[in-house]
Amino acid sequence: MNYSTKILFAALILMGVFSCKTESETKEEISPELSKAISGYDEPFRPQFHFSPPEKWMNDPNGLVHHQGVYHLFYQYYPDDIVWGPMHWGHATSTDMIHWENKPIALYPDEHGLIFSGSAVVDKNNTSGFGTKDNPPLVAIFTYHLMEGEKAGRKDFQTQGIAYSLDNGETWTKYEGNPVIGNQGIKDFRDPKVFWHDESSKWIMALVAGDHAKFYSSDNLKKWVLLSEFGKDKGAHGGVWECPDLFKIPVEGSEEEKWVLLISINPGAPNGGSGTQYFVGDFDGTNFTTEQAETRWLDYGMDNYAGVTYNNVPDGRRVFIGWMSNWNYARDTPTEVWRSSMTLPRKLTLHKNDEGYFLKNFPLTEFDKISKGKLLFPKPVRLDEPFEREYDNLNNSELKFLADPNENYAITYSNKEGEQLCFQLLGESSELLLDRTRSGIVDFEESFGRAIQKQPFWPEGDKTKVRIILDASSVEIFIDEGKHVFTNQIFPKQPYTKLEISGPADGSLEYLMLREVNSIWNPVN
Ligand code: FRU
Repeated sequence: MNYSTKILFAALILMGVFSCKTESETKEEISPELSKAISGYDEPFRPQFHFSPPEKWMNDPNGLVHHQGVYHLFYQYYPDDIVWGPMHWGHATSTDMIHWENKPIALYPDEHGLIFSGSAVVDKNNTSGFGTKDNPPLVAIFTYHLMEGEKAGRKDFQTQGIAYSLDNGETWTKYEGNPVIGNQGIKDFRDPKVFWHDESSKWIMALVAGDHAKFYSSDNLKKWVLLSEFGKDKGAHGGVWECPDLFKIPVEGSEEEKWVLLISINPGAPNGGSGTQYFVGDFDGTNFTTEQAETRWLDYGMDNYAGVTYNNVPDGRRVFIGWMSNWNYARDTPTEVWRSSMTLPRKLTLHKNDEGYFLKNFPLTEFDKISKGKLLFPKPVRLDEPFEREYDNLNNSELKFLADPNENYAITYSNKEGEQLCFQLLGESSELLLDRTRSGIVDFEESFGRAIQKQPFWPEGDKTKVRIILDASSVEIFIDEGKHVFTNQIFPKQPYTKLEISGPADGSLEYLMLREVNSIWNPVN
């Protein structure tokens, strides 16, 4: 679509006269062959080792499920423009959680509405009857959003629907009895996350309803019974609750198991706009309860939203993917062919200390397979002089070092345009700061480059592990293996070429490792 056609399209959407294309009209547009032709994945700002769609708008990850050796990543997708529009489920698959293959669109809007966020399960016992025991169906559970209802000022325009696939996600059939959960007048009623609950031998669904979560159960994924509600008086309420996830997880280093409820919230995140809070507690098959008094955040960066975890991961790891953007400016970021990408797939682990339970999120070890490029710096450094080095391109690199948690450090990436990204670990004031205010193009929206982002820092042990992963348009910072995380988009006009590290003059970095990360789209080896 050329620029003037896009303007016309945008105008039509604004005038409310846009109607969705039919499935047969759009099916051709996103075949894998065509997607390769559309994008060489080499445009300015194109992530080289994060998932992004070949073209057009993407938001939340949906239907994260593993089946027969394949990790599915469905996502909120609008195939006609690079701003949000009538939602479909886009689709990509991976066998290693690193390389992704783009697939045709999985779910199209229908008479019940647009296809909003949701989840997918492997119905192993064929409880739904959609498949057979020998060929169990994949079942997607999602929200229908009926535009006509919303425009008419009604409140019941979000309902829940299901669809199934008998060929491991290649083709999908909508259930003729949709919607499976109707709406009795709740304006924000969406984002079903379903999982099999062994203890009660039932399917459980977590759903959000404005300012709280609702839990349902089912024997067959078609008939659902409301069990309970959680959260009206718990956690952060600066915005609407979205994209819940409920799962059981072991406490590291013990026999204990707890339940975690993830809730995305927009706005109201600690550094502005969209963010993800979590609750650690118990789920007895009916009620989720928690003793957690304070609000806990999964990530203090501004670009990790609507993240949920995989169902059915073979080795039992709890694998999380988030959408690397923020509703404050998601529509305005300076890319042209596509908009936004996902976080690296991360492993969630639960830990306990004197202050209670907390989650860590950290890239899967699979990532190490592509962090194997040229070794740019491999040894300890003294800091009596600040560490300063020039490179060709740091926007595909990984940096790791050990810091003294009682000291202050500043890590700065910069380029010849004078753009710079600065991360500070302040042991003295127990704070972590991320400054992207001059990191590149920041003026497309007011909150993107306005303030230095902050988070509290509670060191563990006498060394702090720092890991910084830079892609073409993102920075992910992990402290102590994901205890503290900053995930952020950045748009430097040129790649960063200089790395500077300053720290205690009498100190040294025990270990400093900087290496290139290989592209997953245009592999060099
Ligand atoms: C979260 C969200 C969901 C909704 C989807 C619509 O980013 O607002 O609540 O289902 O995006 O695209």
